[in-house]
Amino acid sequence: MAEVIVLFDSRGGNTRAVAECIAEGAAMVPGVTARLMAAADLDVASLAAAQAIAVGSPNYFSYMSGHVKTFFDLTYRNAAFKGKPFVAFSTHAGGGGICAVIEKLATSVGMAQVTDGIDILNAPAGNQLKECRKLGQQLGRAAANA
Ligand SMILES: Cc1cc2nc3c(=O)[nH]c(=O)nc-3n(C[C@H](O)[C@H](O)[C@H](O)COP(=O)(O)O)c2cc1C
Repeated sequence: MAEVIVLFDSRGGNTRAVAECIAEGAAMVPGVTARLMAAADLDVASLAAAQAIAVGSPNYFSYMSGHVKTFFDLTYRNAAFKGKPFVAFSTHAGGGGICAVIEKLATSVGMAQVTDGIDILNAPAGNQLKECRKLGQQLGRAAANA
């Protein structure tokens, strides 16, 4: 089985809701398991062993959260992350653009972006839930082929 880990930070639950949808979508792909990992409980070894990773953060002060930034600080120059498929996701209260920041750091550590990430205002609703699951499926397919 290929494994997808959805790494996220969330104080209020909005980003967790996106993470859950992405994991749901990834697990719909045959041969793929998906699980959540809170960035506060970061386990770099498990992330290194996963076939693909989703990385998500709330916008905290126009940047990713400190816990998510720690993941990138610790994986810089770690060969296990070179070429690893990833997607980004973020929630915000009006200031989008954090996906682009996550994507910049993830590609800096050598990870391979599967597709454009998703920035969501507050919590996902309606059609956005479907889009998050679709993003998870795309990542799941990349994991299955890794
Ligand atoms: C410490 C802190 C700083 C924040 N800074 C911003 C910000 O700069 N821009 C913005 O759009 N939202 C900001 N927000 C709002 C959050 O990004 C938004 O509510 C997000 O959905 C929270 O995600 P969570 O429920 O997963 O914690 C901030 C929230 C907190 C708690």
